[in-house]
Amino acid sequence: MKRYERFADEIAELIRSGVLKGGERIPSVRHASRTYGVSPSTVFQAYYLLEDRGLIQARARSGYFVREHAKRPLNEPDISARAGETTEVGVSELVFSVLASLRDPQTVPFGSAFPSPGLFPLPRLARSMAHAVRDMPAGAVIAEMTAGNPDLRRQIALRYMVSGVMLPLEELVITNGAMEALNLCLQAVTEPGDLVAIEAPAFYATLQVLERLKLKAVEIPVHPREGIDLDVLADSLRRLPIKACWFMSSLQNPLGASMGEAKKDALYALIEQHQVPLIEDDVYAELYFTREPPKPVKSRDRQGLVMHCGSFSKSLAPGYRVGWVAAGRFAEQVSRLKLMTTISPSVPAQAAIADYLQHGGYDRHLRKLRHTLEMQQGAMLASAARHFPASTRVTRPGGGYFLWFEFPEPVDSLQLLHLALAQGISLAPGPIFSATQRFRNCARLNHGHAWDQRSENAMALLGRMIKSF
Ligand SMILES: Cc1ncc(COP(=O)(O)O)c(C=O)c1O
Repeated sequence: MKRYERFADEIAELIRSGVLKGGERIPSVRHASRTYGVSPSTVFQAYYLLEDRGLIQARARSGYFVREHAKRPLNEPDISARAGETTEVGVSELVFSVLASLRDPQTVPFGSAFPSPGLFPLPRLARSMAHAVRDMPAGAVIAEMTAGNPDLRRQIALRYMVSGVMLPLEELVITNGAMEALNLCLQAVTEPGDLVAIEAPAFYATLQVLERLKLKAVEIPVHPREGIDLDVLADSLRRLPIKACWFMSSLQNPLGASMGEAKKDALYALIEQHQVPLIEDDVYAELYFTREPPKPVKSRDRQGLVMHCGSFSKSLAPGYRVGWVAAGRFAEQVSRLKLMTTISPSVPAQAAIADYLQHGGYDRHLRKLRHTLEMQQGAMLASAARHFPASTRVTRPGGGYFLWFEFPEPVDSLQLLHLALAQGISLAPGPIFSATQRFRNCARLNHGHAWDQRSENAMALLGRMIKSF
């Protein structure tokens, strides 16, 4: 078999298995040639062959597209309804019991919060760790505890600069993952009993942090594509003494929503008008599928009101526990709170990541990671269209590795989890994402693992369970 025939067969297999859906653009000749290490003429010949087989079609000046013979895709969910005014948060018991049930490594990990560890350059990071620790000056192991690794801080600031945010180094606090950053930011600007505006649905750890700090939630509905409802936020800020907002403006967990640039401008104008700090959780920032990276609200921050939290956990080094916050006018307070709690993230882990950022090829790794996640998203969407009831709704995020499903009303996702676990499949049920335990007929599924026959069978099984309610 010739190289172009083999390459054509590989693309045909992606179409057959649902990785590439009807109507979707396949990689351009230049991109495919670079990504798969074949010559442009091989790609051309392969695409002509696929055209002949009726699998793809060329569109003038737009490239090649998969023909519309895929099943009709499922619809997107609507914006969530508004909850009550303010809510005491008490979800931890439910969250802990669900998370404990998801830990079995034998299950199909649709409920997991992480993508496959195989997607991270762990051997290359290990080399960076060895190199960085071997060359570390003796004094650094103590000196870097409070200030953080200077190379890492500079590399992070450089990445902000490239994405359009000019960040003075003093604003940057290195933390034990984004989770510590988010906790410290909230502590820096609230007292027990205060009101905090959060998303509905929200990342379950947000709810747990509010519960731990005895804060009350004001839930703002989220549109699955466009993010929070700004009218509801404006109204809440006008009427209630909200002390902080905690939002994800890009690739929101669990919906995957990303606000447009104009909406981010409007959000910044609102918090500026009310002088309410925004904690911007941006841990999925690097996992976009769009041509341009989304810009954080932080890029508009003229007054130091935005605390922008990031992390390497989702894009490079899960388990290293290195994150950060660009904390604006609150940097000193956040830094002191860190000294009073954990003092510092591990110095060797910081040095390893700093070395990797300088020499490891982070951007190359990210391009590959984004492409893989996008392909796997296509596979899960196609599989859901094949196996789930036609009235199921699903998000289509522009990045990340989660899909949010809204099943027909009678489906109870906590019961569904119970049934699925008995068959070796996990999922993240809707109620863990809400202070008021709504979203009973919803679930978040993870597509960050290689798509194979086992995944397909698991989707088919889930589909049968959903139809049995
Ligand atoms: C939305 C969101 N924020 C923060 C975190 C925590 O990130 P880290 O592992 O860096 O603490 C996660 C991890 O699941 C997350 O999904």
